[in-house]
Formats: sequence, structure tokens, C-alpha cells
Amino acid sequence: MKPSVILYKALPEDLQKRLESHFTVTQVKDLSPDTVAQHADAFSRAVGLLGSSEKVDAALLEKMPALRATSTISVGYDNFDVDALNARHVFLMHTPYALTETVADTLMALILSSARRVVEVAERVKAGEWTKSIGPDWFGVDVHGKTLGIVGMGRIGLALAQRAHFGFNMPILYNARRHHSEAEERFNARYCELDTLLQEADYVCLILPLTDETYHLIGKDAFAKMKPSAIFINAGRGPVVDEKALIEALQNGEIHAAGLDVFEQEPLPVDSPLLQLPNVVALPHIGSATHETRYNMAATAVDNLINALEGKVEKNCVNPQIKG
Ligand code: GLV
Repeated sequence: MKPSVILYKALPEDLQKRLESHFTVTQVKDLSPDTVAQHADAFSRAVGLLGSSEKVDAALLEKMPALRATSTISVGYDNFDVDALNARHVFLMHTPYALTETVADTLMALILSSARRVVEVAERVKAGEWTKSIGPDWFGVDVHGKTLGIVGMGRIGLALAQRAHFGFNMPILYNARRHHSEAEERFNARYCELDTLLQEADYVCLILPLTDETYHLIGKDAFAKMKPSAIFINAGRGPVVDEKALIEALQNGEIHAAGLDVFEQEPLPVDSPLLQLPNVVALPHIGSATHETRYNMAATAVDNLINALEGKVEKNCVNPQIKG
């Protein structure tokens, strides 16, 4: 008999078949307590768990005593209780390499659309407001040659620096836990303290995972340090920013505009004040959301689960140390 796994995200047909060739698959719509209760038997037997965007915590793990590996179709894993997984010796697999370039493209899209007011002016055209040659009330600000501040110089930060340096001739400042020689040598990026970056950058771009250390890293004080002309971009995780402070900074003109792909609460509530601000580009967490990249992430996640259940955790594993 094949081992059992729970799948909580729809997969492309060929990947579903690949998964089914290895496992008995129970597909569920989510990991809510109701769903778990409804499929209690399958959850109690499952050795693997595959999907994305749902919370995997100690309470869920209680219901899955046979679980040996979880595989998320994402690079971020802040929705997993890693300590609880470690305590139960459950591997956590993710997809760190599949989405780098696509998320860097999304960041460039946020920078360009916020600076040039692409969404706002396109809406005005649709509303029939383009009735004569445009004047300064339609103008944006330049991107090329402006200073880009990157907070978090990981794989995605590096791919953004490459685009900004070669494509847009932007001087690059960065702040990270350690110096990044590749960014410095290839893209002339300059390491600086966070405060210096906030004060000097024209574009402050956040690409950080959510951890205890990064929660609300950017708040009232940080916005006060930015230039009034600064454009703030976040495509990492929403709670790294104190959203209330961001809204106040935008409303009070402490910063010029924001391009956001992530929010403290997702989906973003329709009554969020962010949606009332013309100088905000708000996207529905599309960082990696292209057909090609989402396929590659799902394929990686399927392979990750197969590998982890065979004890192969040299690649893409968050907690290989539990192998012992
Ligand atoms: C997207 O946000 C991811 O973590 O892959």
C-alpha cells in the first residue's frame, strides 16, 4: 500500500499524477478544524502534507501523529510552527530557488508603477479624463538614477539590485544581517545602517521574511526618517511593517507613495484606508504569481515531499538537522 499524504492546494494535472504515483492522496480544501475533523482518518494516517498559505501549528500536528514531512509551495514559512515540527521530527520543505527572478520582477513593477502612477492614471484614462494634452497633475517621478535602498539582501534582493543597477543605473544602498560581497562587487551596492538607508534612499524596498526580529521593524520612527519624496515598497511579508503607521505616514505626507504586495491582513480588507489613497499601488500578493513560476514552485514542492519522505533533505529543507 502506498503511503498517505494530504494535499491542500490544487495542483496542475501532471503534478497531481506524479504525486499519486507515489502516494495515496487525500485532497482537502483547507486545514481548518472542520476540514480536519471531516477527514480525521486521513489526517491521522498521513505521513506527508503538501500545499500553501495555511497555518500549520501544534494543534494541527496533534491530529497528524504519523506526519514525517510537510512541503510548502512557497519560500516563506512563517505560517509554520517550526519548533513544533522539530519537536515531532517532521521535515519542513520549501521552494527558495524557484521564484527569485519573478519576485524581483514584481518589485520592479511596484517601483515603476508607484513612481509613474501607472495604475492611477490608467484608471483616469478609463474614466474618460484624458480629454487634452496632459499637465503636471498627471506626472510621476523618475526611477532611473535614483537611490534604491534594499532592506534584506537575500536572493531576491540581489536579483532586484541587478535589475536596478544594470537596467536603471540606480545607486544601491542595502541593509542586511551581513555584508554581501557579490552585491558590492557586481552592483556596487553600499552596505549601511538601517537609519542611514531610510534617510538617504529615494526608494525604500523591503524584502524580509517575517520572524520575531522583523515583526513591525518598519513603524512610525522609520517613516519619520524617510524623505518626504520617498517611495516605500514592500513585497516580503506584511507584518514586517506597522500598517497603521504606514497609513498615517501616507496620509500626513511624510512619504510620497507606496507600492505594496503584502499586508498585515490578507486578503486586504476592502475597507482598508490604503484603498482610499491614490498614491498607493496595492497588489493581491502576486510576488511569484506567474504561470511559469507557480508551476515550477508546485513541481519543486512535489519533488521536495517525495525526497523528504525518502530522507533526502540536502536541498530545500528548513530543518535538516532533525535528521540526526
Ligand atoms: C510568497 O510569498 C512565498 O513565500 O513564496
